[in-house]
Amino acid sequence: MDHLGRDLLVAVRRGADAPTLRDQLAAQLRDDVAAGRLRAGEALPSTRALAAELGVARGTVVEVYGRLAAEGLLEARRGSATRVAAGAGPPVPAAAPAPVRWDLRAESADLAAFPRRAWATAVARVLQEAPDAALGYGDPQGAPVLRAALAGYLGRARGVVADPGRLVVTTGMTQALRVAAEALLEQGVRRVGVEDPGFPVHRAVLARAGLEPVPIPVDGGGLRVDALDGLDAVVVTPAHQMPTGVRLAEDRRAALRDWGGWVLEDDYDGEVAHERPASRALQGLAPERTAYLGSASKALAPALRLGWLVAPPELAPAAATARQLADGGGEALGQLALAGLVVRGELDAHLRRMRRRYRRRRDALLAALAEHAPDLEPGGGQAGMHLHATLPGRPDLEALLAAAWAGGLALTGYRHGGRSHLLLGYANLPEPSAVPAARALSQARDYGICSGPLSTKRSRNARRTSQTSSE
Ligand SMILES: Cc1ncc(COP(=O)(O)O)c(C=O)c1O
Repeated sequence: MDHLGRDLLVAVRRGADAPTLRDQLAAQLRDDVAAGRLRAGEALPSTRALAAELGVARGTVVEVYGRLAAEGLLEARRGSATRVAAGAGPPVPAAAPAPVRWDLRAESADLAAFPRRAWATAVARVLQEAPDAALGYGDPQGAPVLRAALAGYLGRARGVVADPGRLVVTTGMTQALRVAAEALLEQGVRRVGVEDPGFPVHRAVLARAGLEPVPIPVDGGGLRVDALDGLDAVVVTPAHQMPTGVRLAEDRRAALRDWGGWVLEDDYDGEVAHERPASRALQGLAPERTAYLGSASKALAPALRLGWLVAPPELAPAAATARQLADGGGEALGQLALAGLVVRGELDAHLRRMRRRYRRRRDALLAALAEHAPDLEPGGGQAGMHLHATLPGRPDLEALLAAAWAGGLALTGYRHGGRSHLLLGYANLPEPSAVPAARALSQARDYGICSGPLSTKRSRNARRTSQTSSE
């Protein structure tokens, strides 16, 4: 009968026709390494433990480990476990790109400012205070205590009319949009407007859900609301358009309020908007027709994977069902920790700090760009965490981005309307880094004009142009 180990899935067979135990074991380990089941660096059980599990003499395992070490597949070090050798097995993915020295990506909150202590305390409190029942299957719509806390917070700080019964906690805006899309499908909606240029995730999520995304132009006043004829719904980023950074003009907000279709408002960075007066969420103007989509990715950090959807009454039941069937409801401990942060006012305090910080970082980046790239004329800085710049002339965008990344400047851009554009995120760019980052950008632009030396890297870096939808 086969004898199968638990810590290491190898088996030995005994019998007159069976190969020796040594050969069986060695062959299986070679196979496991070659197939990638045993990865470089993985620790193997001790010879004593494996021998006991397989019911073989310890000397057998010692000899097999020794044989494979001689073949270069295993590494044995005195005093530590025998491991699969570095370089054994299938090739590892290509080398990592140059390290990032200055980060101009418009992706996330300032990760260095995540309130680690407050979060750790909040999680510890949850573990100490929550009843055992909190560890069971919870409400798939989200922990009631978080829904109540968010409803209060969103009403007070963003002007959202938020009934906790219509609030669905999600794993981010991305899931909130998916859930809303499924609810729209149930209402017979098919064609949904998306901003052009816009956030590619909007298009991708809608299309994946079976809806047809229809590009709607964006200009200096934001979404062209006059171009929505014939559509059933639209996704919009009114507080700080992604990517151009413009704020939706007042007359267009009023026009959207009066438009009769469904509005999906992505308020991804509304909480950190540092302009005065602060914008209010559109949802408060037409709560019956607007779904509000929010995210902790900009307010706290993307790693939390927390977001929320405030659904209009007609969409709420289908949204709750869609959330439940997506994954049975989210992880609850993080939800309870976030509820604590909101209720104790710690989220407010964090956001106050971050708004001041982001304003200072924006000002530093604007000043550095004015000095080192005076022709760039960045805009969209009234709110949020990124600026936007249309590059003068017809530079080679791929070459520019490749040069930026090779020089340690993390940067994204896109092409639209026959022009090249850059997103200039400042959330992760401390003030002293603004000047060196602007200098690095200026140097990268030189490559974008005479692109020869870096042209071979273009295809590898093409993904860096895809931050936003492009033509
Ligand atoms: C327009 C927009 N919405 C939402 C998000 C955040 O999405 P999620 O909450 O799924 O992390 C981002 C992140 O970059 C964004 O740019």
